[in-house]
Amino acid sequence: MALPEISETSNSNMMNGEHIIMRLTYISRYNNHNPNGEVSRILAQAQQNNTYNGITGALIFNHNYFLQSIEGARPVINDLLRKLVKDDRHFSLQIIECSEIEQRRWDKWSMKYLIPSEDNKEHSLKFSAGTEFNPYLMSTNQIMMLIDALSKQQEQEEKQISEKKKSWFSIG
Ligand SMILES: Cc1cc2nc3c(=O)[nH]c(=O)nc-3n(C[C@H](O)[C@H](O)[C@H](O)COP(=O)(O)O)c2cc1C
Repeated sequence: MALPEISETSNSNMMNGEHIIMRLTYISRYNNHNPNGEVSRILAQAQQNNTYNGITGALIFNHNYFLQSIEGARPVINDLLRKLVKDDRHFSLQIIECSEIEQRRWDKWSMKYLIPSEDNKEHSLKFSAGTEFNPYLMSTNQIMMLIDALSKQQEQEEKQISEKKKSWFSIG
């Protein structure tokens, strides 16, 4: 994803802290009574808005819970946080970590959807306190390790798929 370098940011844009990049990670509970709550719709809206706003991130969803990590200019992240808190497609939002960062972790993705599936259940439960994935029972450290593990695993799977495709095309 093409993101403006800090040096490219004009001085007028720095008046409000736009040059400071931060990452915010939170968990929330899915509101399954909201008819507009389809995750595909949330994801599409996030990807479209985030591309425009220079936000990158990852979203994990497992029927009951969301876990999202967003990175971007500090005022932009704060604007989004205000919207997220008011969004009734989820509730009980709890901030897991919020810090200034030197480098983005999700720089390739406007919003990467990471799915805790049967295949990667091992990861979701490894860092969980119970027998079911429940981020409310997990420490900040466990949550950050889970996001990292899922994203690394998914990146690896995608790389393998693209290499397989390349080898199919090179046959003959
Ligand atoms: C779990 C969850 C994650 C979301 N993630 C994002 C996001 O990454 N970016 C975004 O712009 N909106 C996201 N939204 C939607 C916002 O809460 C809000 O509805 C939206 O930003 C409003 O956009 P608008 O001002 O263009 O109408 C998310 C909503 C939910 C429930």
